[in-house]
Amino acid sequence: MKTGHEQKFIPALGFHLFTPFYDLIVGLTGRERTVKKALIQHADLQPKQKVLDLACGTGTLAVMVKKFEPALELSAVDADQRMLNKARRKAVSAGVSIGFDQALSFSMPYVDAGFDQVLSTMFFHHLTWDEKVRSVREVYRVLQPGGQFYVADWGAPDSRLMRLLFLTVQLLDSFATTRDHIAGRMPELFSGQGFVDVKQLQSVNTIYGTITLYRAVKPSHPLLRTSDNSSMPA
Ligand SMILES: C[S@@+](CC[C@H](N)C(=O)[O-])C[C@H]1O[C@@H](n2cnc3c(N)ncnc32)[C@H](O)[C@@H]1O
Repeated sequence: MKTGHEQKFIPALGFHLFTPFYDLIVGLTGRERTVKKALIQHADLQPKQKVLDLACGTGTLAVMVKKFEPALELSAVDADQRMLNKARRKAVSAGVSIGFDQALSFSMPYVDAGFDQVLSTMFFHHLTWDEKVRSVREVYRVLQPGGQFYVADWGAPDSRLMRLLFLTVQLLDSFATTRDHIAGRMPELFSGQGFVDVKQLQSVNTIYGTITLYRAVKPSHPLLRTSDNSSMPA
C-alpha cells in the first residue's frame, strides 16, 4: 500500500520500477564515489557534530560519512521506504549507527536548529522550484546559526557535450524539475532563503552531465542577513 509520503515524490531513477537497480546504475556510471567523497571532504566533519543526510536514498553517503567520522551523530531522511530499507541494511552490514526517518523534505521530524551540518546529494533535481524553496527553508530551520549546508546536484553544463548528455536525465526525471539546475539557479535558491556565503565549490563531469558541489551557510546572527533576502523565513 502506498503511504502519503510515497504519493508526493519522484523516485530515485524517475520510476519505482528502477529503484532496485539504483545502486548498480549510479555506482557504475555516475561517478558516485568521487562526488560523495569530495562533498565529505569539503564539509570538514567533526566529532560530536549533529549531521543530517537529506534524501539519503540507499544510504551510500550516510555510511561514508559515518566511516569518515564515526564520532558524529548522523540522521538520514528520505521519502521512500524502499530506499530506506536498503539504507538500513547497508548501515547494519557496515557496522555503523545512523538514525533513519521517513519524511518529505518540506516537513522534517526534527527540532529547530538541531543540526550543525546538512548534506544532500543528487536530490534537488527531483523537486519543482516551489518544492526546492520549501525544502531549503526547512533545511534553514533545522540548522543551527552558523550551520552549513553542502549539496551536490546537477549544475550548469560544463560544455555543449555535457548539455547534450543531460537530456538523458531530463527525459528520466523530468524537464520541469531539472531546468533550474542547468540554468545555474542553485546559488540563487540558497541565498533567496537566507543563506549566506553561498559558493560553488567544484564541478564533476559525468556521462549524464555536470554535477556541481555547493556550500551555503546559515548566518550566525540574523543581522547578517542581506536586504535582498527579505523573502527568507523568520
Ligand atoms: C536520486 S536519489 C539520491 C539518493 C542519495 N542522496 C544518493 O545520492 O544516492 C533521490 C532521492 O530523493 C528522494 N526524494 C525525492 N523527493 C523527496 C522529498 N520531497 N523528500 C524526501 N526525499 C525525497 C527519493 O526517494 C530518492 O531516494
